[in-house]
Amino acid sequence: MRLQEKVAIITGAANGIGLKAAEIFAREGAKVAMADFNKEQGEERASELREQGYEVRFFQVNVSDRQSVDSMIEQVIDQYGDIEILINNAGITRDAMLAKLTAEDFQTVLDVNLTGVFHCTQAVLPSMIAKGKGRIINTSSVSGVYGNVGQTNYAATKAGVVGMTKTWAKELGRKGITVNAVAPGFIETGMTAKVPEKILNQMKQMVPLARLGKPEDIANAYLFLASDEANYINGTVLHVDGGIMM
Ligand code: CAA
Ligand code: NAI
Repeated sequence: MRLQEKVAIITGAANGIGLKAAEIFAREGAKVAMADFNKEQGEERASELREQGYEVRFFQVNVSDRQSVDSMIEQVIDQYGDIEILINNAGITRDAMLAKLTAEDFQTVLDVNLTGVFHCTQAVLPSMIAKGKGRIINTSSVSGVYGNVGQTNYAATKAGVVGMTKTWAKELGRKGITVNAVAPGFIETGMTAKVPEKILNQMKQMVPLARLGKPEDIANAYLFLASDEANYINGTVLHVDGGIMM
């Protein structure tokens, strides 16, 4: 098992990519804190995984609220011990063309996708420093690296995540903590289910592999970066997008 006894927090784990990552990490022996805003769904999914014999627990959090993040981290440490892996996976969209994008929707996406990553990483840091090692994996996007029509707010956050990843990789390396990002292409989850079918088909046609990604395609990239196999990988952005952009 590749993550035996390691304590991992996965944000946004009640659905989609984060949920699949919780399953795969637990299968590899990790103790998984499934942190999500959606309490009902998170508790249900965690209990289903526990029924399969996995060590997972649900913790409610709003990543955009510092107090909520601090309280979640405290509870995880109380129940599982020091944290070795943080997957900053929670994220939202509020798509609109620039001309129609409201300042409120611009800010809401920043609060969750960018400030949320800052809050969770800063809050987890003392625990990783105490342990003398850590793995932080942030979730960017093809939209943040190349831009995407209708995603001013979202693209800004996902580009910002790349900047924070590289900064933290430089700052934290000497403390035994690596920081990397995964930049997914279009993946079959609730997030892409909201995209008009015509646009999604256009995206699919752009992918050399001629399909959308699946949650496990991204969860397996998280696993690789969290495992000992990635010991010397720091500050990288791993593109997992079927080759949609080259
Ligand atoms: N490329 C080129 N042109 C596009 C386009 C695209 N990707 N998307 C829309 N347009 C064009 C439309 O064809 C339309 O052109 P005409 O005015 O000539 O007809 C014009 O832009 C306006 O588009 P809409 O009529 O759709 O405008 P709207 O205001 O009703 O909706 C929108 C705008 C909400 C942005 C909608 O187009 C939309 O949802 N687009 C999809 C955005 C998207 O790709 N989101 C990704 C979500 S998944 C995700 O975020 C995960 C990830 O990390 C990749
Ligand atoms: P999803 O919508 O299926 O799941 C996101 C989860 O985040 C949900 O369970 C939701 O409750 C949770 N969440 C939202 N706001 C939160 C908050 N404030 N605090 C805590 N939890 C919150 O999305 P999906 O597709 O699984 O996305 C996961 C990550 O991957 C996101 O960061 C997304 O931006 C990124 N991504 C997704 C792509 C896709 O095509 N699905 C492509 C590129 C990146």
